[in-house]
This record gives sequence, C-alpha cells and structure tokens, in this order.
Amino acid sequence: MKRPFVVANWKMNGTEEQARALLDALLPLLPGGSEGPEIALAPPFTSLRTVGERLRPTRIALAAQNLHPATHGAFTGEISGPMLVAVGARYVIVGHSERRRLFGEGDELVARKAAAAAAAGLVPILCVGEEESERIGGRTLEVIARQVSAGIGRLPAPGGGSLVVAYEPVWAIGTGRTATPAQVSEAHEWVREALSRSAGAATASEIRILYGGSVTAESAPSVLGAPGVDGALVGGASLVAESFARIVSSVPA
Ligand code: PGA
Repeated sequence: MKRPFVVANWKMNGTEEQARALLDALLPLLPGGSEGPEIALAPPFTSLRTVGERLRPTRIALAAQNLHPATHGAFTGEISGPMLVAVGARYVIVGHSERRRLFGEGDELVARKAAAAAAAGLVPILCVGEEESERIGGRTLEVIARQVSAGIGRLPAPGGGSLVVAYEPVWAIGTGRTATPAQVSEAHEWVREALSRSAGAATASEIRILYGGSVTAESAPSVLGAPGVDGALVGGASLVAESFARIVSSVPA
C-alpha cells in the first residue's frame, strides 16, 4: 500500500523570515505522527537550511525545487544534488513546467537532473503534463508518455521509493482551473502505463503519482479521491497555512 504524499511547492516566494512565520502557523496544524500522508515542503534555496532545521524533529521532509545535473564546478548561480543533501533535503522537483517553459529545460536536461538527484541520494519528483493546446489537439497521452519515458530514461533503477511523478497539466497551474477528477484519473493511468513500459508493471504500481495544478482546500477532496491519485503537489495554496493543512487532511486514509 502506497503512503499518500502531499508536497508544498513554495516557488520563489518568501524570505527566510517569512518562511519561519509560515512554519510557525503551519506546523501546529499538520499531523505529527506516522498517521496521515507523507508531507514535504519545498522552500526557495535561501530558506532550505532554516526550514530543514525546523523540520528535523518532525516527520515532514525537506524538498528542493531544482538542481544542476553536475555535482560541482563552474556553473554560476547553480546548486547541486550533494549540496541539497548536505542541507537535509530528501526530495527535489525536476521538470516542473515553469522550468520547462520559462527556462527552456527540455526532456534531456530533465532526465540528467533526475539522474543527478538519484545519484546524490535524493528522490526526484518528476513533473509531467501537457499544454492546453496539446490537450485540445488530442496529444495529452503522447506528451505524457514522452516526458515520462525521457524523464526516467537515465535513472538506474526507478522504484517505488526512489521516484515520484507529478502529473501537472500546464493549463491548470496557477490558473484556478483544476482538472476534473475524470481527467486526472485518465492522465494518471497514462503516466502509470508509461512507467510500466519503461520500468515494468510491478515497479510502476509502486511509484506514487501526484496531481498538481490549482489544488485548493475546496478542490482537494474530489481530486485526491480520484482513482489513481496518490497525493498532490500544491503551489499557491501551500503558502497559506490553513489551506495547506486542509489539503493534507483531505487525503483519503
Ligand atoms: P498551483 O501550482 O497549485 O499554484 O497551481 C502547482 C505547481 O506548480 O506545482
């Protein structure tokens, strides 16, 4: 039985001081024991250490939002997997559509980032998802299949505990337009089929597939209850303590 997983992606929001204030409000609202879903928080790089220290005595994991595929070197402005491990990160988001669209990251770079994360001992959270024009053009399945197989193509052994996939339709991110439960279930099925083709059915069945895209406290119960959904990757609503806590509490047991 897979443990559901809810990840907060704070994106480029908040100073360290604001991160502390958000944690002050959030931590008392989240389940502390082994009950409920697994939770991870992905603050901006500058707050990783502060957030990591506050999370250490809790069961909540630290996640990063990005990494460079190399371990070190002349890559001004970049951060490597081993650096993230050293501040206590367990997960790292790769292939987020904002990185693909705004920073020109293609499948090949995403694959190298996923492999670098795994090599450093991090669990990559591989994001995939179609643009609105691709959905309208009937290409959602093709896009998802390509992004999944490319994204895991360099992983030595994608397994249940070493990879998380997030299905995030680009048209639903930050737009207030959540995909319908039927759309989410269908896409998650396609993700799992693509994982099966690359990694085998048994391994694919162990990998958690999250939904992301305008998940709110209101939409969470129906989206998280949709068949094939193992949790959520939450952007905007994760910046409001009560909203994120309500999303966590709406994960079906
Ligand atoms: P959103 O972002 O919840 O603000 O739509 C989700 C994401 O980009 O991971």
